[in-house]
Amino acid sequence: MATRDLARRTATDLSALLATDSRAGFAWQQRMWQIAACLSADASDDEALRTARARFEGLYAPGRDFADFHLWRPDPGERAAANARLDALIARLRDLLHMPPVTLRRARHGDAGRVAAIWHAGWRDGHLGHVPDELVAARTAENFHTRAAARVTDATVAEVGGVVGGFVMVVGDEVEQVFVDASFRGGGVADALLAEAERLVAANGHAVAWLAVVPGNTRARRFYERSGWADDGAFDYVASSVTVPCLRYVKRVGP
Ligand SMILES: CC(C)(COP(=O)(O)OP(=O)(O)OC[C@H]1O[C@@H](n2cnc3c(N)ncnc32)[C@H](O)[C@@H]1OP(=O)(O)O)[C@@H](O)C(=O)NCCC(=O)NCCS
Repeated sequence: MATRDLARRTATDLSALLATDSRAGFAWQQRMWQIAACLSADASDDEALRTARARFEGLYAPGRDFADFHLWRPDPGERAAANARLDALIARLRDLLHMPPVTLRRARHGDAGRVAAIWHAGWRDGHLGHVPDELVAARTAENFHTRAAARVTDATVAEVGGVVGGFVMVVGDEVEQVFVDASFRGGGVADALLAEAERLVAANGHAVAWLAVVPGNTRARRFYERSGWADDGAFDYVASSVTVPCLRYVKRVGP
């Protein structure tokens, strides 16, 4: 099947998923409708794909805060399934539209807003239901904006077509943060970031890198294990004065 037809079919599935959302009307949803519409419009293949690609990039333009880039369902299980489907469809569209490859660079002050948005939404994806309520209460949007503003220059960001899709922070031998925007997951952005984090730990003079992950964050654990990291046992991590039961994952990164 031609790329245009596959992209059109994916766009149709995406439209159907958006149409069932009970909290419609967000700016990002309207953008998605536009992307779907230009793939279905009566235009040449080249023109339709080019317009869709430009709109897709616009969705992630710097300075836009898409922390609400999630579908809503009252039932938590249905909500997780709808969002997993949303991520998969967006990732497929991204592949079909030949979005450009991942590049890495040191973060700049101007990245703080985008880093905060990815951090906040990603933190909720990986931690809600798996950490004490006091920590959830402390992790407000403002908390992420403050920490991102203070820490942004410690980060390495991954860009896809000029759009920041994720970031890592390394401190000494610890990989402190690995966060990828939901619609960039499953596309190699996380692999590029983790490989860079491992390189940075080795460059800091350490043979073994470590990180903390909560036991319930199964997607992250699967990703780390696939990348050669091993579970080194349970320990307590103190975050914002809250004790959080975690697993310590380790990987040898140097001689
Ligand atoms: C953790 C994270 C960086 C990984 O990046 P990613 O692009 O999602 O990683 P990938 O899709 O390449 O790999 C995830 C693996 O988990 C699997 N997976 C996907 N959804 C899953 C789920 N709900 N439960 C368990 N495993 C899942 C994938 O199939 C894949 O495994 P596979 O390669 O064997 O198929 C990203 O998911 C993220 O930013 N999550 C939110 C923030 C977070 O939790 N960060 C880590 C804090 S310690």
